[in-house]
Amino acid sequence: MSKDTFDPTKYNNSNNEPFAAVMERELSRRSILRAGVGMAAVGMLNGIGLTGCSNSANGEKLTTTPKVELGFDSISGAKLDAVVVPKGYSAQVLAPWGTPLNDFAQEWQADGSNTALDQANSLGMHHDGMHYFPLNGSSTDGLLCINHEYIDQKALHPTGPTKDANSLRTILDEVRKEINAHGVTVVRIKQTNGIWAVVKNDSHNRRFTGATTMDISGPVADKAPLETPFSPNGDKVRGTLNNCGNGYTPWGTYLTCEENWPGYFVNTGTQTADQLRIGIDDKNTRYGWNDLAGNADEVADEFSRFDITIKGASAAKDYRNEANGHGYIVEIDPYDNQSSAVKRTALGRFRHEGCVYGKVTEGKPIVFYSGHDSRFEYIYKYVSDALWDPADADRTDRLTVGEKYMDQGTLYVARFDDNTVGTWLPLTMTAATKDQGVLADHFANLAEIILNTAGAADLVGATPMDRPEWAAVDPVNGAVYMTLTNNTKRTDTTNPANPRLNNSTGHIIRWQEGDDASQFSWDIFVFGAAEDAAPDVNISGLGELNQFASPDGLAFDSRGIMWIQTDNGAPELTEYTNDQMLAVVPSQLTTDADELETINSENQAALKRFFVGPNGAEVTGLAFSPAQTDLFLNIQHPKNWPYSNDATMETPSNQTVRPRAATVIIRKNDGGEVGV
Ligand code: FEO
Ligand code: CA
Ligand code: CA
Repeated sequence: MSKDTFDPTKYNNSNNEPFAAVMERELSRRSILRAGVGMAAVGMLNGIGLTGCSNSANGEKLTTTPKVELGFDSISGAKLDAVVVPKGYSAQVLAPWGTPLNDFAQEWQADGSNTALDQANSLGMHHDGMHYFPLNGSSTDGLLCINHEYIDQKALHPTGPTKDANSLRTILDEVRKEINAHGVTVVRIKQTNGIWAVVKNDSHNRRFTGATTMDISGPVADKAPLETPFSPNGDKVRGTLNNCGNGYTPWGTYLTCEENWPGYFVNTGTQTADQLRIGIDDKNTRYGWNDLAGNADEVADEFSRFDITIKGASAAKDYRNEANGHGYIVEIDPYDNQSSAVKRTALGRFRHEGCVYGKVTEGKPIVFYSGHDSRFEYIYKYVSDALWDPADADRTDRLTVGEKYMDQGTLYVARFDDNTVGTWLPLTMTAATKDQGVLADHFANLAEIILNTAGAADLVGATPMDRPEWAAVDPVNGAVYMTLTNNTKRTDTTNPANPRLNNSTGHIIRWQEGDDASQFSWDIFVFGAAEDAAPDVNISGLGELNQFASPDGLAFDSRGIMWIQTDNGAPELTEYTNDQMLAVVPSQLTTDADELETINSENQAALKRFFVGPNGAEVTGLAFSPAQTDLFLNIQHPKNWPYSNDATMETPSNQTVRPRAATVIIRKNDGGEVGV
């Protein structure tokens, strides 16, 4: 996301501040998490192999892998219309916005003249979360799933959006093109002689857009909350919007996360509690798609549905329920081109940034973590009722497996206590609320809790965080990391998990699960800061070669390297560098007592800058080939890039290109593993 779609309104008015104690400034120096809680396996698909280096909690001996060491020198910051990679690496542009997936689309036109039909058959705009799904285990032939978070209307059309004298949209094809530029792409890519290319017309290639009909499952999937004129039984919803971070599953499906979706809908009448809590607009939709409601050429209420104001006598007569089909984790089977996307409502409804699964153990539940990216919002985890059967990793009916693990379970929200322990608070009908009651005093059923997930979390006393973004799980020890990108509006000094006031540069929090599903221990792994910031701001002691702000994208590769991407708006860093990606191996930062260490002035050099993006762009999306020889990332909303297929080639200063979000593939010139 960028400032373009961030809604600065504070919708959480619960005043949840569960800590009376004064926080301790030196939290970053604490090392309370164990280094040696090995995992049976974080995953077994898609190259995420076993890399345990110690005994697991139940004593079973895990495979030992060689110690991974970062094999590159940290690079300087840069402010170029080009990307920068370490010496010995190359960076290729692949699949930029508008790349045709098949012959139904014309080639991308540099004047912005492609049609809505072209866009429905081409890569969408503003690439974000992403995953590489190998075909037959290959590191040179696979499927890339790419989220398209939002659009730049100016770049999408020849001269921006056409509007009448009242600033209303007038051209149907433009609006359809915008809707089609949202969603997800599945595209086959293949490498030949070190060069990757899109396989046009491959049978796997497909688009899910802001208009694609999808299935919906879990607690909300019922006629009452989802009935619309389009879906009288409430079993179908249209489109996925503002797909930000992503996830994938141990059974080989892709997860796309709906983030800033409330802005696409408007209710000019009386808003419901969940609409007020999440921030449905009461005046306009973000891009004015509803302006064309009632147009003579409108098909199946394609524009009317974004206006969710009650207008008719019942839900069968208007689109009051349309937004109830948005705000979820959506599961896609990239290998089956006949499958529908499924919205998994049991994982909650909020501004989902990403979704990552935790420690996977035979006979134990599957756990997913997801953050709600908005100021003072919460961190959630979902725990499946079903217990993991490793045979499910190899099934071909993947969405049936998804149904097994993702449709019945318990959603929890995090409370971080001041002694570096925390509690997962269940969001169930019988869950205790702060006022000594239970959630059943406020909600009629689980579907109502899910529809207003954030409101339920307010009632149980969750901890308001500094904008939770991506989570990542260390394959070595199962520790969970989550980026808290920034929060310049924090004024309370009683929240030790978010200890800096005016937190313009963000931090990364970390936790490990306790012995039961409700307990965890936590610390703060690193604080973003400018090198020259005051010591109580640059708490981690960062230097010129690793100073960063606004951590956002986050992922571990299978070797235990954690990659941190930034989406920075803090002037203290933007003067020095464009957005960037850094790398660190957290499992190797340990104390003599075998506890995990945090980043501090003594070990900060272990955090290295690997990549710098072009001017104006956010660096996001992370995927790897199973061989770890190819690192895929996305460049979103660049200003004047890409100029060439070589991502490092600078756009000449006297030239202007129509900007295109794109995937960048980073490889070592000698073909070796990336990063080491
Ligand atoms: Fe889409 Fe929170 O970034
Ligand atoms: Ca962000
Ligand atoms: Ca983001």
